[in-house]
Amino acid sequence: MKPRHFLTLFDLAPQELERLIRRAQEFKAMHRRGEGYAPFPHKIMGMIFEKSSTRTRVSFEAGMAQLGGSAIFLSPRDTQLGRGEPIEDTARVLSSMVDIVMLRTFAHATLERFVAYSTVPVINGLSDAHHPCQLLASVQTFVEQRGPIQGKTVAWIGDGNNVCNSYICAARQFDFQLRLAVPEGYEPDGGLLQACASQVELLRDPLAAARDADLVATDVWASMGQEQEQQRRRQAFSAYQVNVQLMAQAKPEAIFLHCLPAHRGEEVSADVIDGPRSRVWDEAENRLHSQKALIEFLLLGALGI
Ligand code: CP
Ligand code: NVA
Repeated sequence: MKPRHFLTLFDLAPQELERLIRRAQEFKAMHRRGEGYAPFPHKIMGMIFEKSSTRTRVSFEAGMAQLGGSAIFLSPRDTQLGRGEPIEDTARVLSSMVDIVMLRTFAHATLERFVAYSTVPVINGLSDAHHPCQLLASVQTFVEQRGPIQGKTVAWIGDGNNVCNSYICAARQFDFQLRLAVPEGYEPDGGLLQACASQVELLRDPLAAARDADLVATDVWASMGQEQEQQRRRQAFSAYQVNVQLMAQAKPEAIFLHCLPAHRGEEVSADVIDGPRSRVWDEAENRLHSQKALIEFLLLGALGI
């Protein structure tokens, strides 16, 4: 049986995603009650990180341990990947030894090449193009705080980056309206925009995008791998800060989300991220619960259950 993978939000059907968000809430409730649930003894996750991480690494590693299994952290610096061993060979070897793989990489094609040779489920832990695990946690957070996200209006302010692309996929899969305020030259994936045109509107004006929104989200102006562009980007995005004036355009009950890490004073002001409408700490915690639901879904599928 071919394993299921999670490279983008399109790899799961909308009903599967809905179920996964509900399961994530159950996992969170069990965790709060101190109830153990360890259905996967001896199951091992291989985690390859070509880029830095705090949340993704800790949530997957803790999640696997809580489910009764374990995780192995692998970085190119101290594996043969860093010395040029092909990703295809690595995929064949790793998937013969572990039960599930998480890969954080630069080119999205690296994930696709890995999947082509993997006999076990593969999870995208962030690529230059997508960050689907982040959206599981972000949607869970909105649902917990404000109820169903279907039909709601979400404003994305800033860079058309990997997280933005995943918001576009989420708009389609969870059926909400997404307004993007992105400066010229920093648009998200054009094909995705076209494919999701009925859910997504591309604007330039951040205040217009935020008007009457239920959720306002942003991310750093320079992502990992774009360190050289920092200066240029700071100028291009200077009018795209999520601050109190911008949040004032949104609905009174609107919340603010950010995948983190954040740069206070750049994409978000300190009084917003540390203010009463911010739910970024719940969002970060939900990485743990939603990914446990994802691991369960993929491992049970791999077991044919
Ligand atoms: N949001 C997120 O993926 O954080 P890390 O880079 O710390 O994993
Ligand atoms: N867009 C950011 C997200 C970090 C979690 C990056 O790719 O660096």
